[in-house]
Amino acid sequence: MTTSPSATVPAELLETVRTKHRALWASGDYPAVVANAVAGLGPVLVEACRLRPGETVLDVGAGSGNAAIPAALAGADVVASDLTPELLDVGRELAAAQGAQLRWEQADAHALPYPDGAFDVVMSCIGVMFAPFHQLAADELLRVTRHGGRVGVLSWTPDGFIGELFATLRPYAPPPPPGAQPPPLWGDESHVRDLLGDRVRHLHAETRTLTVDRFASGAELRDFFKAAYGPMIATYRNVGDDAERAQQLDEELAALGDRYLTGHDGGSSMEWEYLLVTAERR
Ligand SMILES: C[S@@+](CC[C@H](N)C(=O)[O-])C[C@H]1O[C@@H](n2cnc3c(N)ncnc32)[C@H](O)[C@@H]1O
Repeated sequence: MTTSPSATVPAELLETVRTKHRALWASGDYPAVVANAVAGLGPVLVEACRLRPGETVLDVGAGSGNAAIPAALAGADVVASDLTPELLDVGRELAAAQGAQLRWEQADAHALPYPDGAFDVVMSCIGVMFAPFHQLAADELLRVTRHGGRVGVLSWTPDGFIGELFATLRPYAPPPPPGAQPPPLWGDESHVRDLLGDRVRHLHAETRTLTVDRFASGAELRDFFKAAYGPMIATYRNVGDDAERAQQLDEELAALGDRYLTGHDGGSSMEWEYLLVTAERR
């Protein structure tokens, strides 16, 4: 499957989504989510991409550099790109503190400002999955990867904890833009195979879990996410002052967290499932 529906996403719609999503990811404290829960994922993706010193690497949806910084520390020549300048600013500071050198550039995954084949490796750690027009974003990832280069994408699965979290939020969340696809679909291997199609070879997909031991209860996790995680903040804003619905959502989220906590290790840690995909650009 190599067709691209890019022509069907009007420029005004892309611009509206860009503005909305930039504000969403700048809200709360996403770097705290990294520090408390998902910091382990960046190095996993970097290792899977088998970076060699001096290779040019683009990180798409890099945020505050969870994957981009370890890639730079491994000796790669890295561009960290993201829609949200506030997160790139945090990344710059984190990189400086660790002595990592890389470039930070604002870019929409749906319209990457780079020439065809510009990078040896293009990767995305729970990043491109949040660009709602999947085929358009996938086409862009492949376009800027050189022939014979590598693509690496790490995404939450639909059936894992974050996938279930998004399913729980969905009835309460603002309606998605027309034509948008849900983020955790990028965690479905057959969906990713369709997106990348015959433009890649040696596609390897592996389901793994991240152990998160920061939260003692579902309610604690929910309250942390309510303060720090943009998609959750946007959902509660959409519920507004409907106290009954807000309480219902509170209860559903706490129950979800508790289910994952008690399901593993006697309640002190939880496993968040993700899909790790690597492939070679033909
Ligand atoms: C869950 S965060 C992941 C950040 C980082 N890769 C990490 O592992 O912590 C999702 C990131 O995707 C970015 N993002 C969302 N939509 C995007 C788009 N259309 N283009 C580029 N980045 C986007 C957000 O700004 C945010 O930094």
